[in-house]
Amino acid sequence: MPRQIVLASRPSGWPTAANFALTEASRPDLANGEVRVRNLFMSVDPYMRGRMNDVKSYLPPFRLGEPLEGGAVGAVIESRSPDLAEGDLVLHMLGWRDEAVLPAVHARKVAALEGLSPSAYLGVLGVPALTAYVGLLDIAALKAGDVVFVSGAAGAVGSMAGQIAKLKGATRVIGSAGSDEKVRWLHEIGFDAAFNYRAGPVLAQLREAAPGGIDVYFDNVGADHLDAALVALNTHGRVAMSGAIANYNAAEPLPGPANLGLVITKRLTLRGFIIIDHQDRLPAMIADVSGWLREGKLAHTETVVDGLDQAPDAFINLLRGANTGKMIVRL
Ligand SMILES: NC(=O)c1ccc[n+]([C@@H]2O[C@H](COP(=O)([O-])OP(=O)(O)OC[C@H]3O[C@@H](n4cnc5c(N)ncnc54)[C@H](OP(=O)(O)O)[C@@H]3O)[C@@H](O)[C@H]2O)c1
Repeated sequence: MPRQIVLASRPSGWPTAANFALTEASRPDLANGEVRVRNLFMSVDPYMRGRMNDVKSYLPPFRLGEPLEGGAVGAVIESRSPDLAEGDLVLHMLGWRDEAVLPAVHARKVAALEGLSPSAYLGVLGVPALTAYVGLLDIAALKAGDVVFVSGAAGAVGSMAGQIAKLKGATRVIGSAGSDEKVRWLHEIGFDAAFNYRAGPVLAQLREAAPGGIDVYFDNVGADHLDAALVALNTHGRVAMSGAIANYNAAEPLPGPANLGLVITKRLTLRGFIIIDHQDRLPAMIADVSGWLREGKLAHTETVVDGLDQAPDAFINLLRGANTGKMIVRL
């Protein structure tokens, strides 16, 4: 029988393996219009930590005893829809299970990619890339000549954000990440400067990397990183507030930056966004990113973990920084 990962209990603070359970799933008959998909790859993402809490947000909480959800790519193995046929490759939102049964209208048919794994639809051609693209170009209104700082820079979103900034005319791109090895990789993929935030205070390292200040901050982290960026931002600087991962596992709310007054004196713009609202930008992102990949101008990597039973650990380790590039579970 197919298997699934269900939410066994809600975490307080850091999630543990005990919050998840691997269970057998049923194999229901298909209703008209539905398809059965054999999942090949699933995504684990930081936002899933928020859905483990029983709080109202932009997506409903995962339900106790029910399978978790998230991006997945799979092959149609049975269809009762004229729109999808057996063998079609599809992208959909019922990850965390071997097999998904869903209305065909909730699955997007995608093409097999020359030279790329289908998991690219969860990373370099998927939500992380779109988040980087929209965050920089639309939310932070990147301009040629900007100096850009990206936190969480060696992750799926951050590594795209830094490279897209350079490709779109930033003069200097600085990244922060949690290990020396990640910092080395950031240099390899074209960041002008990078530092390990665990090796010293963020502000001192950012000042050294950006002596003339920064114009754009792509924030994946919040906390000490946002505080330091507010100091380093030049007048009329812009911040794309993408995520605040430093806060996701805090059992109690953490204090915000103590220096928000700088937003006024420097006339800064801080703008949050959720990528669900920006799907209209998908064709532009795919066109740009596919072109850059073809021309060898954009690097990307995945950290791949094998097996549905390993998905909870992959997720927990993602939050701890075990990934470089996109964290993927191969099923
Ligand atoms: N707004 C949106 O619509 C949207 C969409 C997608 C993602 N996001 C956000 O974008 C950010 C990155 O997501 P992703 O999918 O690309 O994940 P990711 O960056 O590939 O993985 C998460 C990374 O966060 C870093 N991290 C964990 N705790 C940290 C801390 N306390 N301080 C600094 N870094 C920490 C870890 O790397 P280190 O080794 O460097 O610590 C880890 O590898 C997240 O904040 C996520 O919520 C937002």
